[in-house]
Amino acid sequence: MVQSPARDATSPRHTAVVGLQWGDEGKGKLVDLLAPEHDCIVRYNGGANAGHTVVVGDERYALHLVPSGILFPGCTCVIGNGVVVDPGKLLEEIDGLRARGIEVGSNLRISSRAHVVMPYHKAIDAALEEFIAGGGRDAIGTTRRGIGPAYADKVVRSTAIRVGDLLHRDRLEARLDMICRLRSAQLRSLGADESDISAAVDRSRLLDEALAWADRLAPHICDTTWLLHDALDAGQRLLFEGANACLLDVDHGTYPFVTSSNCSTLGIPAGTGVPLGRIDRVLGIMKAYSTRVGGGPFPTELHDDIGDRIRERGREYGTTTGRPRRCGWLDLVAVRYTAMVCGVTGIACTLFDVLGGFDEVRLCTGYRFPDGTVTDRFPPDAFDLAEVEPVYETFEGWPDPEVRPSDRNDLPEAARRYLDRIEEVVGVPIEIVSIGPERSEVLVAG
Ligand code: GDP
Ligand code: IMO
Ligand code: MG
Repeated sequence: MVQSPARDATSPRHTAVVGLQWGDEGKGKLVDLLAPEHDCIVRYNGGANAGHTVVVGDERYALHLVPSGILFPGCTCVIGNGVVVDPGKLLEEIDGLRARGIEVGSNLRISSRAHVVMPYHKAIDAALEEFIAGGGRDAIGTTRRGIGPAYADKVVRSTAIRVGDLLHRDRLEARLDMICRLRSAQLRSLGADESDISAAVDRSRLLDEALAWADRLAPHICDTTWLLHDALDAGQRLLFEGANACLLDVDHGTYPFVTSSNCSTLGIPAGTGVPLGRIDRVLGIMKAYSTRVGGGPFPTELHDDIGDRIRERGREYGTTTGRPRRCGWLDLVAVRYTAMVCGVTGIACTLFDVLGGFDEVRLCTGYRFPDGTVTDRFPPDAFDLAEVEPVYETFEGWPDPEVRPSDRNDLPEAARRYLDRIEEVVGVPIEIVSIGPERSEVLVAG
């Protein structure tokens, strides 16, 4: 009889790192921080729409497709089947890392089941955004990295290209023929420029490009589902790196103002082939305030000096697109919901240093609907969410510390009260407080 693997205090710990807001919570920093405790770092969703910044000393790395564990030698980095891979961007990233002395070889593995983002996906993403822009509030404000159109092809099936297909010239030739006819008609109907259409759907150019990608990526491509299960059987510790964030989850986020994948932890089993039950620890990453890039409702958004001050102190400009991020107070109605959906066991509160020096700070703990009713439950409809007024609790501010604290207890009393109240409302302990971009700038609960 096959025995269940024993679970005790010495069993390996498999961790998920997931964003609890609208992205850019500092997931990259936390993955880099936790990498030494793990053997494999696994991306399960999203694509080059993600921008994860890791700061090591004077060096700043912006990672989009390569898991943030790549900077820690000895980790295997896996791009799981749930990711949509833009091979050109991935190769650029690999070359950039190698040029800076980071090893990228057999330590990077890409699922043959992952889907490919092709140039026409990016052209369609941009053309669709332009087309819809006339509709005003319906534009999503995508990163234009081809994410939605690539996931759409995955679901349509007959128009998709998987990473494994890149290794088969015959399959590619046959499929590209049909795809190019279809996509040029689609781009024309969206009003794209003829020059953009011919650049994005030139069959022989696409074939040459795909074969060149295949040549370079072939050593990294494998069946990552078996790779991960072999790693589990060998007692290795896995860390799942979420891209984007739970409020951008296509099922559980602020639909339609979301991305096209399951960025919550619910995306892990589908996006890697590893059952969710194997994961022991889910670390939810939450900024000490809120930000959002692109369109969609944002109840606590600040359109005043305070919002500008948060943006400047937090350097809140997109890692992928450079767009200024919309900023506002911490929304605990949202975080309580995402912590529940993701099954969070602990929180890392990041960018906490940014809140220093304000006279007062606020936490949103309820939403008031136009009819006067108040709720602490996150609503399922983004257009209802756009109508709510945040209900705030106001806290006395605290000064920037003169000496860097080394413990949460070293923080000023007002700062500790703010953190205590977050734990109380969300019902999950804050395990880590991050007080700067560097690896060492963290306060870990004892
Ligand atoms: P991700 O997409 O969740 O990985 O987050 P991003 O990298 O897009 O954005 C987070 C930004 O905040 C990056 O520039 C990080 O270097 C920076 N950062 C992370 N943690 C902290 C922190 O505690 N304090 C400050 N000031 N910056 C931080
Ligand atoms: P990381 O991993 C912030 C947002 C876009 C847009 C919407 C849909 O760095 O936290 P898409 O290009 O995915 O179709 O855009 O989702 N978005 C992000 N915002 N951080 C991200 O990733 C994001 N990934 C997607 O701005 O509003
Ligand atoms: Mg980011």
